[in-house]
Amino acid sequence: MIIKDIKIIDIIQDGRGVGKKDGKTIFIENAIFGEVLDAEIIAFKKNYLEARKIQTKIQSQYYRKPPCPYFDECGGCSIMDINYQKQIELKKNLIKNALKKSAKIEISDLEIMESKEFHYRNKIRLKVDENGNLNYLKNYSDQYVAIKNCLIANELISNNLSEITKISRDINLNSSAKIDEITIRSNNSDILLNLQGKFDQESLNYIKENYSDGKYKINLIDGKKLIVISGNGYLEYNILGKNFKISALDFYQVNDFQIENLYSLAKEFLGENQKILDLYCGSATSSIAINGDHVIGVEINKNAIKDANENAKRNGLKNYKFLAKNAKYIDEKFIKNEKIDAITLDPPRAGLDKDLIKAITDSKIQKIVYISCNPQTLARDIKRFMDRGYVLKKIKAVDMFPQTMHVESVVLMSK
Ligand SMILES: C[S@@+](CC[C@H](N)C(=O)[O-])C[C@H]1O[C@@H](n2cnc3c(N)ncnc32)[C@H](O)[C@@H]1O
Repeated sequence: MIIKDIKIIDIIQDGRGVGKKDGKTIFIENAIFGEVLDAEIIAFKKNYLEARKIQTKIQSQYYRKPPCPYFDECGGCSIMDINYQKQIELKKNLIKNALKKSAKIEISDLEIMESKEFHYRNKIRLKVDENGNLNYLKNYSDQYVAIKNCLIANELISNNLSEITKISRDINLNSSAKIDEITIRSNNSDILLNLQGKFDQESLNYIKENYSDGKYKINLIDGKKLIVISGNGYLEYNILGKNFKISALDFYQVNDFQIENLYSLAKEFLGENQKILDLYCGSATSSIAINGDHVIGVEINKNAIKDANENAKRNGLKNYKFLAKNAKYIDEKFIKNEKIDAITLDPPRAGLDKDLIKAITDSKIQKIVYISCNPQTLARDIKRFMDRGYVLKKIKAVDMFPQTMHVESVVLMSK
């Protein structure tokens, strides 16, 4: 079924456009904010329809020709076809609408820290085909799109991509290894490659012989096993005058140009001279950059906790504890016993467990700084804190992900 002349009035987080027809909401793939289009319905749901764009009827005033040649097919960047100022406005609306819908909070204006538009990412993940060529996934599908470059990867990764492709081609074509995914990470000077796939002894020997002392730090990942081929298995980063070790599989904020802005904002909201509990602390970059000493960090990834302890030593902390633990098991007693003054939270997209919110609010902690990469779960969690006696004091956003509808928010709540 085809529906004609739908005006695109919004963009949701996965990049699809929103239109209305006869009172029904339609989510449309490949739509541009502000355009009028015809679309084919691909799914009828109870409260909405899903559709795919067939043709643009009236071009959006915010349209720009996407500067990346893979844009039409690649699923990586969903809004590169509208100008950056409009991207920022859409992200503000995304956060404002989520707050209004879930927490019934209306904010008139929301400040958002803008980013460098291109070449900002210090990490990209690519699919590798049997010939060793590098691919992203196609829009809304699991088919591959072969790429030779990526406009949002940082300059160092971008400039090395063809050489890295040569390595994956060589290994997949000339050895018995099968690399199926590659993650490329970098700091200012070094590149680390995580080659994921199947490696038998013969291919391991081949890779060791040919790549043990090349210019890249290389790790092989086969199931749960990580084998360091060259380098030391980690990268070092400097943030706000502090130095950090981040191992191959640990989380690290992806936007080189916004990390300091993000942490400085959280630091400003948090204030000084307090003992914090940093939940979802990763390798303690957030704990140490935001608060310095007097910190307890909790993180589920055991290896990240090893790095957190090393990072505490590197940066001269004296009063710290980093625990490998699921944050949802933190309880009121623990918060009280440890004499915590304030809590920082930086969960994955799913947001916070209800029991954790209960433990935090029962402990009557005065100040909470919540860093979130998902406006929907953030708004849901703010509402849960509000229901338990907390108020939203401050909120600001940081654009960590230009060309996509993803955005980071930093929130201060108090009792
Ligand atoms: C968005 S990252 C933030 C890390 C850190 N705050 C930073 O800025 O680098 C979220 C972290 O939460 C960790 N994590 C995921 N689920 C968790 C859980 N249930 N309990 C504790 N940590 C968890 C992940 O391993 C990841 O390191």
